[in-house]
Parts: sequence; structure tokens; C-alpha cells
Amino acid sequence: MLNDRSSLLSLLETRRSGKPRDLVGPGPTQVELERILTIAARTPDHGTLAPWRFVTVGDDQRDALADVLLGALAEDNPEATDKHREKEINFAHYQGQLVVLVSAPVPDHKIPVWEQQLSCGAAGMNLLLAAHALGFVAGWVTGWRAYSKRVLHAFCEPGERIAGFIFIGHANSDLVDRERPALSNVSHAWTPPSR
Ligand SMILES: Cc1cc2nc3c(=O)[nH]c(=O)nc-3n(C[C@H](O)[C@H](O)[C@H](O)COP(=O)(O)O)c2cc1C
Repeated sequence: MLNDRSSLLSLLETRRSGKPRDLVGPGPTQVELERILTIAARTPDHGTLAPWRFVTVGDDQRDALADVLLGALAEDNPEATDKHREKEINFAHYQGQLVVLVSAPVPDHKIPVWEQQLSCGAAGMNLLLAAHALGFVAGWVTGWRAYSKRVLHAFCEPGERIAGFIFIGHANSDLVDRERPALSNVSHAWTPPSR
């Protein structure tokens, strides 16, 4: 039990993201992917609304994704260059498994949309942890694509938003950790307001 606990802690203490463009395959098998998404869905959720969805994009759908991104780029940035277009084609074909995390809040509900969006973020975090626990490296990105009308239309119903494109694969070289915030900068004891 102690061993289990120390490996869990070490997993939490060592997880870090990989840059999606640097990931290599293979991504998870279907069974592994379902396990990752099941863990991701096991997330705090005020009102049990499940205000998020996971949209998986298959390897055989990457050309279709590139078409969506190129169409969106043409619409959003008429000045786009060949280099921009190439970047989108590359993005659509990044290796590993792509999961589009969609925030799907229930409107006009007593649970504020903000709390529903927080639950979506928690689902994303759980997804990253589950991928790490299964020996994968994952990376969560947004960028202009997550806000583009045409891309939203391809993945979302009205009122939904893209929380991120999460790629799950393996690192092609050792990952170097980034600097983490000093705890003293992000945590402090409460000072009650003076009466
Ligand atoms: C909602 C969200 C969107 C993000 N979008 C981007 C992005 O577009 N490009 C990027 O380089 N990193 C983006 N990041 C940051 C990376 O996912 C990641 O947090 C960072 O590379 C360090 O990861 P780590 O702290 O998990 O190691 C985003 C993170 C979140 C939570």
C-alpha cells in the first residue's frame, strides 16, 4: 500500500507535458484510450452535469481536420501565407491520439457556467494524469484554432467551446521540466479583513 502511495505521489510529482509537435506515436490503443477518458470523466462536477465532452479524432480523419483548419485559416486570416497553411497541415497530422476537449456547459442552470467550466478544466487535468500513468506523454494546446468560428462549428454545438486539443503520444527525447512556481508565490495564509 505504501509502495502504491509512493508511486502515485511520484507520478503526480513528475508529470509534465510534451509539446504536441514533438510527440511521436504510437498513441494509446482503443482500450487504453477508453481507460484514459474514463479516468478523465471521473472529475469533480457540481450538479453532476458532465459539462464536457471528449471528441476523438482518428488517424484516418487527419486530412479532414487539415481541411477544416485550412478553411478556418482562410476565413480568419486572408493574409495567411503558405507557411501558415503548412503549419495547419502539420498540426492536423501531429502524431499520437488527438482528443478535442469540449466545454459543454448547461445554460440557465442553477450551477453557474463558471463552475461547469472549472469541471471541464479538471477533466482535462485528469486526462493528462491518466495518460502519464499509462506511460504516455500528453500535451494540451489551444491557439487561434480553439476560438475560430469554423473550427468550433466542426467540433461543438452552439454554446459549447473548445477547451483544448490534447495529443497523447510519446516524447521523442528526454523531457526537460519547466520551472515551477515557488510555493510561497502561489500559496499564503489567509488574512481576515479588518472589522
Ligand atoms: C487551457 C490551456 C491551453 C493551453 N494552450 C497552449 C498553447 O496553445 N500553446 C502552448 O504552447 N501551451 C499551451 N498550454 C500549456 C501547455 O499545455 C502546458 O501546460 C505547458 O507546456 C507546461 O506543461 P506542464 O506544466 O503540464 O508540464 C495550454 C494549457 C492550458 C491549460
